Amino acid sequence: MAEVVHGGSAEEISLAEVGLRFEVDGEIATITLARPEKRNAQTFATWSALARIGDDLPQQVRVVVVRGEGPSFSAGIDLRMFTPEGVPGQGSFASTATLRGEAFDERIAQAQQGFMWLRRPDIVSIAAVQGHAVGAGFQLALACDLRILADDAKLCMKEPALGLVPDLTGTKPLVDLVGLSRAVEICLTARTVGAEEAARIGLAELVVAPGDLTQAVRDLAAALLATNRDAATATKRLLQGASGRTLEEQCAAERQEQMARIKALFG
Ligand code: CAA
Repeated sequence: MAEVVHGGSAEEISLAEVGLRFEVDGEIATITLARPEKRNAQTFATWSALARIGDDLPQQVRVVVVRGEGPSFSAGIDLRMFTPEGVPGQGSFASTATLRGEAFDERIAQAQQGFMWLRRPDIVSIAAVQGHAVGAGFQLALACDLRILADDAKLCMKEPALGLVPDLTGTKPLVDLVGLSRAVEICLTARTVGAEEAARIGLAELVVAPGDLTQAVRDLAAALLATNRDAATATKRLLQGASGRTLEEQCAAERQEQMARIKALFG
């Protein structure tokens, strides 16, 4: 288990300080948002820590579970960001607004790094969502490859209601999963999507009773680990590239990946 993900740096911040836990059990890593008393609200420090977890992920890990402790998966960005005082040591939206050009872009890009790695082809990420997943919480669930929801899950893209846009990598997976019209409707009304609807429109692979969430994630992880590691990575790479390719290009990509597999297995 890694308490501190990055060692030796002056910026070293323990995961506990940012309300995260990180555990590795064989090929499964579990990231837990562990600030239940604040409904696992997230800050820029949360996202930096997530990015460092991704950078330092032990090589043997094949499945990454992202879960939240307590009644909510995550209530989104820490609302102190909207106050003049902000989050101690991390500033506020008002201080971010003073950043210019590249510095502004870099700050948001850094936050996005906390989410982007969850799509890496060599891992499969699973969000285990109970209760509220609001704003950054919904986007964190969308950053994962798969979502298992407890039947009390409530997903809400709150940003437009607060005058902001969803900018933590969530807009593309949302459109990919539910289509443009439904994504527009969900985001621009900032309404809450319940678990049953989420499953119906493609936002969840499975909905279970809250008490069954942990076991359902375990079962899915075990099924994912039953396949060949290199074949799983190559297949995920193929699937991820499919929507950007023509059928002919995809066929060529299949041939190339298969050649590498057959050479590795039988060559
Ligand atoms: N930031 C900081 N603290 C939060 C929080 C947040 N996002 N959400 C909840 N909390 C705190 C509450 O202030 C409360 O703290 P105290 O006990 O010290 O008063 C504690 O967590 C429990 O909160 P509730 O009593 O409200 O819990 P609940 O279970 O009744 O309700 C909830 C849960 C519906 C998620 C509700 O807390 C809520 O609406 N939270 C705010 C959601 C929100 O607007 N998030 C921002 C979305 S936008 C975004 O993430 C991205 C962006 O802007 C760029």
